[in-house]
Amino acid sequence: MSVPAPAPVPPVHGLQGPATCLVTGAGGGIGQAALAQLLAHPQVAQVHAVVRRAPGADPLAALAQAHPGRLHLHLADLTDEAALQRLADAVAASTPALHLVLHCAGLLHAPGLQPERALAQVRLAALQQVFAIDAFAPILLARVLEPLLPRAQQAVYASLSARVGSIGDNRLGGWYAYRAAKAAQNQLLHTLAIEWRRTRPQATCLLLHPGTVDTPLSRPFQARLPPGQLITPAQAAARLLAVIAAATPADSGRFLAWDGAPIPW
Ligand SMILES: NC(=O)c1ccc[n+]([C@@H]2O[C@H](COP(=O)([O-])OP(=O)(O)OC[C@H]3O[C@@H](n4cnc5c(N)ncnc54)[C@H](OP(=O)(O)O)[C@@H]3O)[C@@H](O)[C@H]2O)c1
Repeated sequence: MSVPAPAPVPPVHGLQGPATCLVTGAGGGIGQAALAQLLAHPQVAQVHAVVRRAPGADPLAALAQAHPGRLHLHLADLTDEAALQRLADAVAASTPALHLVLHCAGLLHAPGLQPERALAQVRLAALQQVFAIDAFAPILLARVLEPLLPRAQQAVYASLSARVGSIGDNRLGGWYAYRAAKAAQNQLLHTLAIEWRRTRPQATCLLLHPGTVDTPLSRPFQARLPPGQLITPAQAAARLLAVIAAATPADSGRFLAWDGAPIPW
């Protein structure tokens, strides 16, 4: 006699019916892996994937072809407030409710932008560029998507922060803009969690550290990592989705690592 496989854990704790999800940074390392895993989940009915540029012949285009009508692609620069509102309007046009938002867009380096090693390298333009996506986008995205979070069901708003954003854990220094922007993101979303405790008690707002993940963001800084520290985007996504699935509204406002362990502010 064959034993039936156990039912998969709902993507959001306590959610009975089908789930609708939204993933930002869906063209990036962790975002794309999370998108693929959500699309493979039997309880996920629809996923809205947000990218900055139209996909070419990349895995995202293949996912879109494999899941017509289930995967909705949106183009948006998340540092543009008007684009955020257009995104929310476009999602609302096809989706009455979002049960899970996973914000994976972020920035550490770019052409002409390198994490600072010393005070002499700190520049206003770089601080503004990094804060725009790593601090401001997550809270502004929450503002435009809030009306789509159901009041009668549990919903999760999870955002990828970083352990280096922890002030208590900062022993090495450097990376001024990125560290400070992630710390600001933590404060903004922790504040939001306190508001939602009153206004949306079924909503869980999480700040998550994905681990050290082999993606374009970390690639220039991997050389001096201890062996075994680097994980794949698929491993990171699986761990993050497990932390999200286990979280309840009592966890709202927490800063958690990929294994569910709390990180000091
Ligand atoms: N990788 C790690 O080891 C690690 C560790 C700690 C925390 N994190 C955090 O995890 C998150 C995901 O990182 P990742 O490793 O997956 O990096 P990634 O592969 O570089 O992906 C980041 C994604 O964010 C998108 N993005 C950047 N600016 C944007 C904007 N203004 N509008 C819309 N999208 C934008 C990028 O789009 P484009 O491709 O168009 O640039 C890219 O797809 C980030 O918040 C990062 O800080 C990563």
